[in-house]
Amino acid sequence: MQTISKLIELRSHLRGVRQNGQTIAMVATMGNLHAGHIELIHRARELADIVVATIFVNPLQFGSGEDLEKYPKTLEEDKLQLENAGCHLLFAPTESEVYPHGRDNQTIVEVPATSNLYCGSSRPGHFQGVATVVCKLYSMIHPDIAIFGQKDYQQLHIIRQMTQDLSIDVKVVGSPTTRNQEGLALSSRNGYLTADERHRATALYKALQTTAQALQNNNDDFPQLCEQAQLTIEEAGFKRDYFVIANADTLMLAQPGDKQLVILAAAYMGAARLIDNKVVDISNQINSIPPAIS
Ligand code: PAF
Repeated sequence: MQTISKLIELRSHLRGVRQNGQTIAMVATMGNLHAGHIELIHRARELADIVVATIFVNPLQFGSGEDLEKYPKTLEEDKLQLENAGCHLLFAPTESEVYPHGRDNQTIVEVPATSNLYCGSSRPGHFQGVATVVCKLYSMIHPDIAIFGQKDYQQLHIIRQMTQDLSIDVKVVGSPTTRNQEGLALSSRNGYLTADERHRATALYKALQTTAQALQNNNDDFPQLCEQAQLTIEEAGFKRDYFVIANADTLMLAQPGDKQLVILAAAYMGAARLIDNKVVDISNQINSIPPAIS
């Protein structure tokens, strides 16, 4: 696997790839790779000829007081994992390569409506930073396909809309969340947890499962279900951020009658802010109105 840090070299390398008629899949990361990222690489290998991974801790998506400075950097280990997973090329640029006019002078991409909800409300500017860097990575790499984890459901939704809105010819693919044996979604931020916190953090996924079950059982008192879930995760030692039931397609708060739902949650455990989600399809509920018999 080749590692490139300069945009000019990346472009010249990928020009050759395209001239050979090979397709390119992009897997964007901020490094500190875990099995979830490696799943994305495997998926990318199934879908394209050449897999380009990126490692860039994007300062634009961190707010003041967040963990930009202490975000774990493990480049050598990451390279080894990528190489073992069959990644073809790693693009690991410096900040000045990505933001040549400085981060405060960067043209910003903003997806309206959904960018300021949920994670966007707790982390102002976060999704503008994500949309901007992903748009730039598209322009740098010109991938045919880009693969993102479904663990960041809102991020994936925003990236899909940005890609469509800007008429960018990239197929966005979501890849299922990878979990540890206890159900905790893998995340680089799990590294901030002690062993005990890591164990207690599994309450988040359990609360998603319990809420999903209640939805399947026709409970449509969404505010009450969310409050119940918040209390359960607080009992496990979480500090609440948000726990909502949203329409899976629009991301707006779900209304009784919506059938494609997603439960979105974020909460603080020790030094980590963890997020998780669960998609729930209730179109086949037993009590759904049966189709008219003709
Ligand atoms: O999901 C992430 O790791 C980041 O938000 C991404 C997509 C690499 C953009 O910096």
